[in-house]
Amino acid sequence: MKALVYQGPRDVRVMDMPDAKIERPTDVLVKIILTNICGSDLHMYEGRTNMESGRILGHENLGEVVEIGKAVDRIKIGDKVCLPFNIGCGFCKNCERGLTGYCLIANPGMAGAAYGFAGMGPFSGGQAEYLRVPYGDFNCLKLPPDSEEKFNDYVMLSDVFPTGYHATQLAGVLPGETVVIYGAGPVGLMAAHSASIKGASQIMVVDRHKDRLALAEEAGAIAIDDSDGSGVDQIMELTKGKGADRGCECVGYQCCDKAGHEVPNLTMNNLVETVRATGSIGVVGVFIPEDPGAKDKLAKQGQMAFDFGKFWIKGQRIATGQANVKAYNRQLRDLIAAGKANPSFIVSHELPLEQAPEAYKNFDERKDGWTKVLLRPGA
Ligand SMILES: NC(=O)c1ccc[n+]([C@@H]2O[C@H](COP(=O)([O-])OP(=O)(O)OC[C@H]3O[C@@H](n4cnc5c(N)ncnc54)[C@H](O)[C@@H]3O)[C@@H](O)[C@H]2O)c1
Ligand SMILES: [Zn+2]
Ligand SMILES: [Zn+2]
Repeated sequence: MKALVYQGPRDVRVMDMPDAKIERPTDVLVKIILTNICGSDLHMYEGRTNMESGRILGHENLGEVVEIGKAVDRIKIGDKVCLPFNIGCGFCKNCERGLTGYCLIANPGMAGAAYGFAGMGPFSGGQAEYLRVPYGDFNCLKLPPDSEEKFNDYVMLSDVFPTGYHATQLAGVLPGETVVIYGAGPVGLMAAHSASIKGASQIMVVDRHKDRLALAEEAGAIAIDDSDGSGVDQIMELTKGKGADRGCECVGYQCCDKAGHEVPNLTMNNLVETVRATGSIGVVGVFIPEDPGAKDKLAKQGQMAFDFGKFWIKGQRIATGQANVKAYNRQLRDLIAAGKANPSFIVSHELPLEQAPEAYKNFDERKDGWTKVLLRPGA
């Protein structure tokens, strides 16, 4: 089968790879219809993770079931399904509690497994013609019969929509509250969409890319352009000097200052500054235990100079981590089906798999107009 393979930093190629196949009786085999490029892929693409070369990328997948293992009960051939980026077993201590991003069984020795992901097990990704889905009955989210016309919406259930929603859950967003979101990439935009669905009274999204900020406005947010570094001041002014009730970090360890230089503690300290006393902060942007490629001495060891004194004095709370996609994807699917959520508003490009290398390059450069790329292996 054709697949997009990571070769090394900024080198991905579409190649012939062995076909994905059923390996265990609980597996499901999916023919990929849509598979997205994610900001998380970019950390790998840039060589800023320990991703092994030769592996197939792609963790945001939607497709049709073409084969099922002998122990698969619920899922049938022909079902259209969206796969959470995290692979859960469904029966471990964490999965039982809905914490499927931290499954203890799927990737032995580690809490958490995912497709085509550094440090999340050996599973191949779905930027390919076929994908093997372990524990298929548990992991496949079935799509409604008429889902085809909304595939671009439903594919967002694999990651960015539940992840944006998770950011608002971690931050504890309630109806009527004010929210500040750092990052207007796909995840930040989905956090804005989620905060709007939850009935936030004021949503502020900070970034520097005009195309992305325009989408934040489309999501019902106030766009805060930080290209001159005034984001914090703008938020304090909008919140009458108090700060927002809740804050979401949707950028991660490669966050930059206005000149584009990486400053790993910037968004975290800006959140402490711009969230009100006793407010809370949800961090879904990725931070990693060690980052040898960082210029910053602390960041090399996965550490940062965090304004803990101010955080403590303000009595703030913080929650972090991978999104437990399965905790939300069913409800978010039903919002899409009911026409109450339309996450595909972030999509800028729909391309055949063959054009993935070029798409990676453009998305990585955050080129104007490249806000979210969908790949169609069958096109
Ligand atoms: N926790 C999870 O489960 C999960 C899931 C998916 C993605 N992620 C992570 O979420 C993060 C965002 O993903 P994405 O797909 O939106 O990525 P992206 O790289 O497309 O978007 C990040 C945005 O942040 C902006 N940015 C950079 N520095 C900033 C700053 N100082 N202030 C404000 N904005 C700044 C960039 O201009 C960019 O638009 C990544 O770290 C990704 O790995 C986490
Ligand atoms: Zn993703
Ligand atoms: Zn599990």
